[in-house]
Amino acid sequence: MKILGIETSCDETAAAVIEDGTVIHSNVIASQVEMHARYGGIVPEIASRQHMTAMIPVVQTALSEASINLEDLDGIAVTHGPGLAGSLLVGVNAAKGLAVSHNLPFIGINHLEGHIYAAWLEDGVDPESDPGFPIMCLITSGGHTDLIVMRGHGDYQLVGRTRDDAAGEAFDKAARVLGLGFPGGPEIQRAAESAIGTEPRLPRPNVKNSLDFSFSGLKTAALRRAEEKGMYPPREDQNIDSQEVSEVAAAFQEAIVDTLVKRTLEAAQRYDVNGILMGGGVAANSQLREWMSDQSSTPVVVPRPGLCTDNAAMIGAAAFLRIKDNPDRIWDLDVIPNLRLG
Ligand code: KG4
Ligand code: ZN
Repeated sequence: MKILGIETSCDETAAAVIEDGTVIHSNVIASQVEMHARYGGIVPEIASRQHMTAMIPVVQTALSEASINLEDLDGIAVTHGPGLAGSLLVGVNAAKGLAVSHNLPFIGINHLEGHIYAAWLEDGVDPESDPGFPIMCLITSGGHTDLIVMRGHGDYQLVGRTRDDAAGEAFDKAARVLGLGFPGGPEIQRAAESAIGTEPRLPRPNVKNSLDFSFSGLKTAALRRAEEKGMYPPREDQNIDSQEVSEVAAAFQEAIVDTLVKRTLEAAQRYDVNGILMGGGVAANSQLREWMSDQSSTPVVVPRPGLCTDNAAMIGAAAFLRIKDNPDRIWDLDVIPNLRLG
């Protein structure tokens, strides 16, 4: 069963053809990162305009790379939330138009559910059989840091979330403070690689008696540290490859990763799950992947980094069982910018 997945919730225009929720026939992503980098963050109006110009070429490339025509598809699935309203609208309307004109099954997918189903796209990986439900999912991205117990396909319970900034947002803001580029997560990871660990640790944020996260205090602590060292505001001539920047980047990355790992393991124990599944852009972080695997007593499933950050393959994967069980045509599908999962 071949499904065209479309994703435009943020700043990636993406389309993919996925077979049976697992096999990737094509996975095309047009990133707008350079357009937004000069503003140090995503500008919603620019994002929707870019999606409009990129959408049709991206879909055409995804179909031709998969050697399939629209009429041979078994359905179309599109992200309808959460995300930027204008960006979601471009994807939903394009997908609807394609589905109507070819009378194909058509459904909306929750972006966060997509991040979970990216794990099924890995060669030979099927979380349903290994580790098996229930699974504790840590979805950590630019907009979310959620702990969700998955008890079966489509069966979710939200048990923890961030009270303020998402982990990815904290990475992005700290990178800006250190004069590093956007998006901040990969930049901080790169800078931290040359650290030797001389920087005193930054505080680990902790929300008492809860599985929730809070990252705004850590962000402020990083800002104070950078100010004390004369690194903030960044100087014109600031050397982003300096040892000092690397040390602060490493201390910041460790504080976030340590917090994510500890809280996830606590949640996994409390809900007595069989394993942990990670998804979302921050799950591409090498230290998070390493520390979670090293410290967890249950198996950890995490897609390769390129499937953790936004893509449409995960949308096609999440749609498979839905369309197979119920080939609906949801013609009144609308965008839900604050859509939740669980
Ligand atoms: O899932 P995603 O691509 O988009 C959203 O749904 O938000 O996540 C983007 C976020 C950004 O904040 C980015 O800085 C972060 O993921 N990110 C990383 C890494 N790669 C991307 N954070 C830490 N380490 C990385 N290697
Ligand atoms: Zn995402």
